[in-house]
Amino acid sequence: MKIGVFDSGLGGLVITKAFIDTLPQYDYLYLGDTAHLPYGEKTSGRILKYTLDAMKWLIKHDCKLIIIACNTATSICLRYIQQKFIPAEAPDVKVLGVVIPTVEVALAGGEKHIGVIATKATVESHIYQTELKKINPNISVAEQATPQIVPLIESNDFSDMEKVLEDYLLPLKNVESLILGCTHYPLIKDYARKILPNCHIISQDEFMGEKLADYLRRHPEIESKLGKHQKQRFFVSKINPQAQLIAERLIPHILLEQTTLLSQC
Ligand code: DGL
Repeated sequence: MKIGVFDSGLGGLVITKAFIDTLPQYDYLYLGDTAHLPYGEKTSGRILKYTLDAMKWLIKHDCKLIIIACNTATSICLRYIQQKFIPAEAPDVKVLGVVIPTVEVALAGGEKHIGVIATKATVESHIYQTELKKINPNISVAEQATPQIVPLIESNDFSDMEKVLEDYLLPLKNVESLILGCTHYPLIKDYARKILPNCHIISQDEFMGEKLADYLRRHPEIESKLGKHQKQRFFVSKINPQAQLIAERLIPHILLEQTTLLSQC
């Protein structure tokens, strides 16, 4: 049984690398739905349809534990998947997201003015604001959609990134901490730290490995079922030479393989 990692594209490879670096002993299966990227601009119905197809694919390929690394898919679909889809379709599979671990890290920092940058769908769901305020109603949360960033990263174009990010971060210049609420954004964390030097930049690649390790320590009934052969395979629903180049930048020597999801048939 493997650990499945799902993202709408290649950005989730950054989170997968964090898992592999922290927990190299397990078997991982990555699925990036590059055929339908970007999710952040789509309706909730579309995002749910594509994410459910991805869950079915990962379950069919023996994933016992699935991490939805995509913030957008977590925001829109995780509750439905955990409460309805999994109990009906695969009750022995666990599905986790990235929002709650990120909220825990943000609140542990103690800052009271928290900014979030994410896709349009994540921002419109207000999931970060809701979850942060559920635990601490006294904090202020400013959310900013940053739709230009993912297409630039997926096309490996960083030439204007600092300028684009500077414009997005202007309204957030007074926040004390900033959640980079998208799988792709660890790749721009250095720009964010340069633009907001006094702000605590919360980047998911820096803690998701430890969060997964902690989860597995607390759930030996799942941990004991996971294969430990250090096997890793990385699938995408649409491949091109550019995708392979970007993937190699994120995980050296990676081999991307192509698969077809139900929604492409
Ligand atoms: N992977 C998505 C996320 O973490 C962003 C990319 C997209 O729009 O599909 O929110």
